[in-house]
Amino acid sequence: MGFIVNKFVRLTLGQTFWLKMVLHVAALSLLSLTFYQAYSDQLGADPVEALLHFTGIGAFNLLLLSLLISPLAKYLRLGQLLTLRRPVGLYAFAYGLCHVTSYIMFELQFEWSLIFSEVVKRPYITVGFSALLILTLLATTSTKAIQRRMGKTWQKTHNWVYVASLLVALHYLWSVKSDLIQPIIYAVVLLTLLATRKDKFLKPFRSALNRRNKRQQNKKKLA
Ligand code: HEM
Repeated sequence: MGFIVNKFVRLTLGQTFWLKMVLHVAALSLLSLTFYQAYSDQLGADPVEALLHFTGIGAFNLLLLSLLISPLAKYLRLGQLLTLRRPVGLYAFAYGLCHVTSYIMFELQFEWSLIFSEVVKRPYITVGFSALLILTLLATTSTKAIQRRMGKTWQKTHNWVYVASLLVALHYLWSVKSDLIQPIIYAVVLLTLLATRKDKFLKPFRSALNRRNKRQQNKKKLA
């Protein structure tokens, strides 16, 4: 199917450029509009909750989109799509940062001692905080120059995006008091996207198994 689609669909440099433009305009305008609505009191009865919801869900959606790009590019044989991974990942981080900043500014009103105790005492905040730390590491090491300098460790470091997304899914599940349907749907979508990478996750186990089998065969030959 991917082959058939690829016969008709090819992304030129210009089309890739426009795809990136659509991403920049959509991500930046939605974020600015929501903060403007919060500022001008147009976000309903609880604007802080609405802001936390929009930025939190926005960050999670973008994280899922960044995980969708690779399998989609492989399936459609459109390698150019891979160039979208970096901006999408950076927007996921930016939305996550706005989410946490809104919480610190509007919920905790910059009470730094409170921030520390929230991270320590409330497990769902601890989990969200850990996810943000990982996303910060990934965003700050995402440039081409750093990628070149890090060599092979870059890919290993960036595989931590899988851990970060699992932590976000857990943070979401844990933060919800009642209706669990939506966070469960998000968790299922995430697990499906991770399942498309099962070969990558199983590779270290398979290599270890192969090494063990070879050792056993060599022992048998020597015996
Ligand atoms: C220090 C880090 C974080 C803090 C303090 C934090 C705080 C919060 C709070 C207070 C809520 C609302 C819970 C409620 O409704 O009572 C929330 C929900 C949520 N957060 Fe975070 N969060 C953090 C990190 C993150 C990150 C990194 C992401 C995503 C990349 C994220 C995604 C979400 C999502 C999807 C929700 C559910 C939104 C909803 O349905 O209302 N959070 N978080």
